Amino acid sequence: MIDCPEPGLWLLTTPSSAYAVRLGPDGAPRSAHWGPRLTLDQARVLPAGAEELPVEGGDRFGVAGLQVRYGDGVRGVEWRHLGDDVDGGHLTIRMADRHYPLEIDLHYLIRPDSDAVDRWTTLRNTGDGPITVLRCDSAAWAVPRREDYRLTHVTGEWGAEFQVRRTAPAVAETVLTSRRGHSGHHANPWVMIDAGDATEDRGEVWSAALAWSGSWRITVERDHDGRVGWSGGFGHEGVTWRLGPGESLETPAFTGVYSAEGFGGVSHRWHEHIRRHVLPAPGRVRPVVYNSWEATEFDVSQAQQMELAELAAGIGVELFVMDDGWFGGRTGAFAGRTGETAGLGDWWPNPDRFPHGLTPLIDHVKRLGMRFGLWVEPESVNPDSELYRTRPEWVLGQPNRRATEVRDQLLLDFSRDDVAEWAYDRLDELVTHNDIAFLKWDMNRPITEAGDEVWVPYIRNVYAVVDRLRATHPHLTIEGCASGGGRADLGMLAGTDQIWTSDNTDATQRIAIQHGYGQVYPACTMGAWVTDSPNALTGRPTPLAFRFHVAMSGALGIGGDLGRWSPADLEQAKHLIEQYKLIRPVVHEGRMDRLADWAVQYTLDPHVVVLSWRPTTLVRVTAPVRLRGLDPDGVYRDEDTGETHHGGLLMSHGLPRPWPFDATSELKRLTRVG
Ligand code: GLA
Repeated sequence: MIDCPEPGLWLLTTPSSAYAVRLGPDGAPRSAHWGPRLTLDQARVLPAGAEELPVEGGDRFGVAGLQVRYGDGVRGVEWRHLGDDVDGGHLTIRMADRHYPLEIDLHYLIRPDSDAVDRWTTLRNTGDGPITVLRCDSAAWAVPRREDYRLTHVTGEWGAEFQVRRTAPAVAETVLTSRRGHSGHHANPWVMIDAGDATEDRGEVWSAALAWSGSWRITVERDHDGRVGWSGGFGHEGVTWRLGPGESLETPAFTGVYSAEGFGGVSHRWHEHIRRHVLPAPGRVRPVVYNSWEATEFDVSQAQQMELAELAAGIGVELFVMDDGWFGGRTGAFAGRTGETAGLGDWWPNPDRFPHGLTPLIDHVKRLGMRFGLWVEPESVNPDSELYRTRPEWVLGQPNRRATEVRDQLLLDFSRDDVAEWAYDRLDELVTHNDIAFLKWDMNRPITEAGDEVWVPYIRNVYAVVDRLRATHPHLTIEGCASGGGRADLGMLAGTDQIWTSDNTDATQRIAIQHGYGQVYPACTMGAWVTDSPNALTGRPTPLAFRFHVAMSGALGIGGDLGRWSPADLEQAKHLIEQYKLIRPVVHEGRMDRLADWAVQYTLDPHVVVLSWRPTTLVRVTAPVRLRGLDPDGVYRDEDTGETHHGGLLMSHGLPRPWPFDATSELKRLTRVG
């Protein structure tokens, strides 16, 4: 609900939080409240706080979320209020510069069943000369004054994404950013602040996440007076934008979520919001996928894919994905995609490997009762490819600058509409002429040598191609990937069904990666494979059940070389996949609680699922797992043993964990029966 209790004051109320904005004495829109719900009387006495979009000019010396330069060289904004519009849950506060022809709309969007507040900014040049935009953040968020603060974010690298960090924010500016043209393995575009006292289920947490898949910057500022807030948006420093007469620039949304119920409470709200309002096909069942990458890498053949498909179907896989190595090559001129160095851009089945196209393999997969999926990397091109030879001018680069190759590949200039059109046509043709139900859309290198005007349209065209493909092929499931979890964000999730979380499939290390991913993003979007033991990346051996129990906490897939699994392994895998199919609705649609020490609970009343892991006996996990959010007077039946438990006791005494060895794990399925 949006109220305007008096002129220049707006109160946005969500199911369990409120956000208020007030025009300050200087005319600037300022934050008045972000926290629990308020009455209108309470809202009326709120003073104006920090700027909603801090600008340059006057005695402001902090981070400027909006920096512009007019034709005469003058910089900064002096605010003038033009009016406001309310359309359902969408509030637009219309502002302008006092003198120059620049209009600035501040947008706020809330929904009746979500605690998220989407905020974004639109700039409009209403004059007849260009304006240079040096920075345009989506929004700034101010946290109320507290005795102390703690900053939570994630860091990482390839194979180690989403590592949660909790630190005291420096009395300084802390810049979380990606300058790589994708949201990053080393960081992820979200931030959380608490007063240093929040736990998983208690305490206030303020958080925000950007719906953007390219470069981004969030600057957290803590001043000497103890005020904390952050400003964030797309782009990194130094990249400017020319706003011509009559042109406008709209930023992506920077969505904020407040919870008084700890980090768990904030995660619940993110998960619900993303499932309901961000994902393109809410409620779609994520198939159990088999992906052949770790089994075959580039050494792909039709016969070997057919054998893998038979084994995958035998254990209950629902969708078979052929990864990299299936395409390129023509009449012996060159070999196509047989390794990293060639073939990207040539999106036709390699005639040496698939002499009759993909149809024989797809028919085989379908006869086995599965659907078929394919790996693509539409933004990239190898210099050794037909595409590069015919369209060298499509490569992203700058005159007189060397084009940086990463993984032997260059990028196509996706900011060009003709390039995006070509990519759409190739993918549309692939999906139309082959019975393809799933695409894994990869992006294996950062953006380099891009001019100012490339960074934003490039990403918008990626979104446009994904959206158009979905519109033409509504049945298509799309998995986003960038060398693992390098492009996982609300922007990508608006067009894809799931994300390939990490190329690291070692179940032990995966627990931490998944822990970080799940702080904001829901389990149904978290691609998680069971692969071989010892693990290809780390060499660590782990039991099959442990690998399954870790992967079952997301969207389960199988990524091992099934030809090397023993009959006993295949039999056990079949049983575990059957169990996963039973718990899938609870894991994907239920409330997720991270329980103390290596355990996670999903609740979709009357069903409760608990997955617990003991990765190593060095971790002293001997205390029982105490469950959350159950009916204290309810009785819960263990679906495997038939035993019954009191809800109250499950929450206070918990379930025992008598596990003696490394890499032990357990799946508990409980149903409330009384
Ligand atoms: C990236 C992906 C992998 C795999 C390879 C194929 O690294 O993250 O899962 O698809 O590309 O080249």
